[in-house]
Amino acid sequence: MADKRSKRFEILENRPVHQDGFIGEWVDVGLIAMDSPNDPKPSVVVRDGLIVEMDGRPRKEFDMIEQFVADYCIDRSVAQEAMSKSSLELARMLVDISVSAKEVRRVFSGLTPAKMADVIGQMNIVEIMMAMQKMRARQTPGNQAHITSATDNPIMLCADAAEGALRGFMEEETTVAVARYAALNAISLLVGSQTGRPGVLTQDALEEAFELQIGMQGLTSYAETVSVYGTESVFVDGDDTPWSKAFLASAYASRGIKMRFTSGTGSEVQMGAAEGRSMLYLEARCIMVTKGAGVQGLQNGSISCIGVPGAVPSGLRAVAGENLITMIYGLEVASGNDQTFSHSDMRRTARTIPQMFSGADFIFSGYSGVPNKDNMFAGSNWDIEDVDDYLTLQRDFRVDGGLIPVTEDEVVACRNKAARALQAVYDELGFPAISDEEIEAATYGHSSSDMPPRNIPEDLKAAERVMTEMINGIDIIKALSKRGFREEAEALVRMMKQHVSGDYLQTSAWVDREGGVWSAVNDPNSYQGPGTGYSMSEERWNQLKNVPWAIKAEDV
Ligand code: 5AD
Ligand code: CA
Repeated sequence: MADKRSKRFEILENRPVHQDGFIGEWVDVGLIAMDSPNDPKPSVVVRDGLIVEMDGRPRKEFDMIEQFVADYCIDRSVAQEAMSKSSLELARMLVDISVSAKEVRRVFSGLTPAKMADVIGQMNIVEIMMAMQKMRARQTPGNQAHITSATDNPIMLCADAAEGALRGFMEEETTVAVARYAALNAISLLVGSQTGRPGVLTQDALEEAFELQIGMQGLTSYAETVSVYGTESVFVDGDDTPWSKAFLASAYASRGIKMRFTSGTGSEVQMGAAEGRSMLYLEARCIMVTKGAGVQGLQNGSISCIGVPGAVPSGLRAVAGENLITMIYGLEVASGNDQTFSHSDMRRTARTIPQMFSGADFIFSGYSGVPNKDNMFAGSNWDIEDVDDYLTLQRDFRVDGGLIPVTEDEVVACRNKAARALQAVYDELGFPAISDEEIEAATYGHSSSDMPPRNIPEDLKAAERVMTEMINGIDIIKALSKRGFREEAEALVRMMKQHVSGDYLQTSAWVDREGGVWSAVNDPNSYQGPGTGYSMSEERWNQLKNVPWAIKAEDV
């Protein structure tokens, strides 16, 4: 560098974006977002109803992912028709408003992974967004929150879950700081969510066997961190195969628990086994494994690996592209935005625009409903301290991002009620007492540091009891109703009924406050150009635009 520095450049180097990591394309290790020269060339040969060659590889050389995709995902009856079209022609179908989503799905179900990745490669970011608007499964967009606590404080978790539900999140997920707290965290989310807005679905992201167990106990209503990967060696590293994941998926469905898989660009690079392929090609394989397994949806958009595509050219375009592929298959998508990846406020806002402006089933697969220092998923791209900016963006662009403005009074009242409901449940179950002082702190507090410390060993004994005594959703209902929390108890009864009826196992399902289920079946996306598709009701728009901090004409 020159002896004399430019003041301009010194200032630029001190901007937040320079704290982010960037790397040039490095094909051999798979540090390339799209169109790697090592990606296979698209091809398919179908003989006697069997795919005998795919993307340049004969059937006897298929790895397990290719075999699974060829046998369970690709529609052999349209494969030849679909693969004979050019990638450009297929890309144009995605943005052409005269081609319905249904027709796109019919044709695209015949594509191979390499072809799918190549089609997305023909599109710029605005075209990807146009296609997302048409292809997402459910018409009404929605949002999901992370609700966690650095100290696993049960009262704070419950109050934060209530506030998140009140703010409009359709689903809320927690995880742990200390693994043994898991069962108590699930109970906090269950009670809090139903206090904030009856019908909100909750999950407890942990090790897979535990998640299934706690779901069967009725303490959670869905799961999503069932990971799939794009290369065989990474898959096997996790002691899994597409078949074992498909088996797990059917276990969830048979027990009335909503479930989606998780994948995302960058995981194979991060685990050092990308085989030199592009991130989007490998992700196309993951999405096709998901479709083949018969799962209703997928959390993707790089997720915990966002730093990897975020560091390479065109990486965030690829991330929007992977969300689009998920939508093309008619799968529910929880489209990322759930992990800190940049120091630059501009970059983290821009990263969210494709999903927020086009709409997704869950625009965030974890907007942090708590301050990021309490976020045990290692921090989300947006947290609760950004929420007024988010509400402002919805208002500026007349976009429904799934959240609604709330007043301080409403939030305080709802947090307080949730904390009192949890106090009653703990008391009824003989768990360590929740004091009035703790309720006060959770009602008015912002983070776990505002809470008085708990007796952790005693709490952990209670957590253990949940599992050994099989304390379940019905026990929580009994406790709530005995102590006068009738509305919350009724809301929970409706959630338990879902485990039996399974209506909410339909694609892209969420549950409203009356227990009604909305999904891609009864609320299918009908977008086909201006004047069609999702539009906010007058009532919803009045709610969204009415941010409490705007001056009202009548007050002037
Ligand atoms: N691919 C697969 N699984 C992922 N997860 C996060 N990111 C990815 C990815 N890119 C899963 C992991 C993690 C949880 C938060 O989500 O299972 O533990
Ligand atoms: Ca998530």
